[in-house]
Amino acid sequence: MKSPLDKIRPEVRGLSQYTLEQYRYEIKINQNENPFDIPVHLKDQVMELARDRSWARYPDFVPRDFQQKLAHYVRWDPEGILVGNGSNELIRSVLMVSIEKGSRVVIPVPTFTLYKLMSTLFGADVIEVKLNTDYTFNTEALREAAEDADLLILSSPNNPTGCVITDENLRLLLQNTDALVLVDEAYCEFSGTSCLPLLKSYKNLIILRTFSKAFSLAGLRVGYLIADPLLTREIAKAKLPYDLNFFSQMAAMKVLENIMIIKERIKYIIAQREILYETLQQIPGVTPYPSHANFILFETILDAKYLFSKLLEHGVLVRDVSSYPMLAKALRVTVGKEEENKRFVRALTDIMSL
Ligand SMILES: Cc1ncc(COP(=O)(O)O)c(C=O)c1O
Repeated sequence: MKSPLDKIRPEVRGLSQYTLEQYRYEIKINQNENPFDIPVHLKDQVMELARDRSWARYPDFVPRDFQQKLAHYVRWDPEGILVGNGSNELIRSVLMVSIEKGSRVVIPVPTFTLYKLMSTLFGADVIEVKLNTDYTFNTEALREAAEDADLLILSSPNNPTGCVITDENLRLLLQNTDALVLVDEAYCEFSGTSCLPLLKSYKNLIILRTFSKAFSLAGLRVGYLIADPLLTREIAKAKLPYDLNFFSQMAAMKVLENIMIIKERIKYIIAQREILYETLQQIPGVTPYPSHANFILFETILDAKYLFSKLLEHGVLVRDVSSYPMLAKALRVTVGKEEENKRFVRALTDIMSL
């Protein structure tokens, strides 16, 4: 009998699974999550709403209330907003409706690994455009590669390097391609920048956002997409019905209603990021890169895997990104609460002075 694996597409078998190992830790600063949980009084309010709503009934087919709230928040047509089970799900939906075997998908490298993995799963030819050596976007190379592409995907701020694309450079890309341009703004709240103002002028622009980072809801899986309603109507066809459960919707709406709490926390994290960056700059053998997100990429003179395990011995879990292209000496640390950042710095300083 032949192996059932023969029925799995060869390009799938050639891929490594997107996965994260489980470690024991005291300080978790490896996944760019928010160090602050949702306040208990808000959780209680959501629980009460959820308790009083029938769990036997499906969520609304189109979550209009939530779309309306988001539309108000981003000042865009509610018809041009799609919500999903995390923004990852929406990345997949975009690829599903736009990519077929041989389609050309341009991505910068290094970037969020899911873009290449998913694009390859859909049979695309992935064209990787290296970042500049200071880990900023190489706009000219991206522009050239995107000329005859079907899809360009940019994470801005870019995970794991923290660089952003300026409006001017993004305009340049949008003007010179017929490709769809997907800008993943998972971390935009920490950069104070967004390409939302360009949406009106560029019909090929799609913006992705998430509640997993600045909005402290990673555990509930809520993401949204903003684009011209002509595009969202098509992308919606690839979404599974009722993908976003009513509990997560309620929680996300509650967070939007209390946006001032979130804004205060964003300010705090940005301030901590700047302190952490300056502190890292002062540790001999450590080179941090400027970041517009809630994480910092840093290189050291030590072997990255060795440093990762040493930090873990100190109870500090960061992200080892040394297997990413260009990043053989790099780790990524999420900005946490002040005491977490200090603990990380103490551990790193100890290890570097050994
Ligand atoms: C660039 C980028 N996009 C999307 C995500 C995932 O977002 P979500 O939790 O909404 O699926 C991440 C998570 O690390 C990310 O770094």
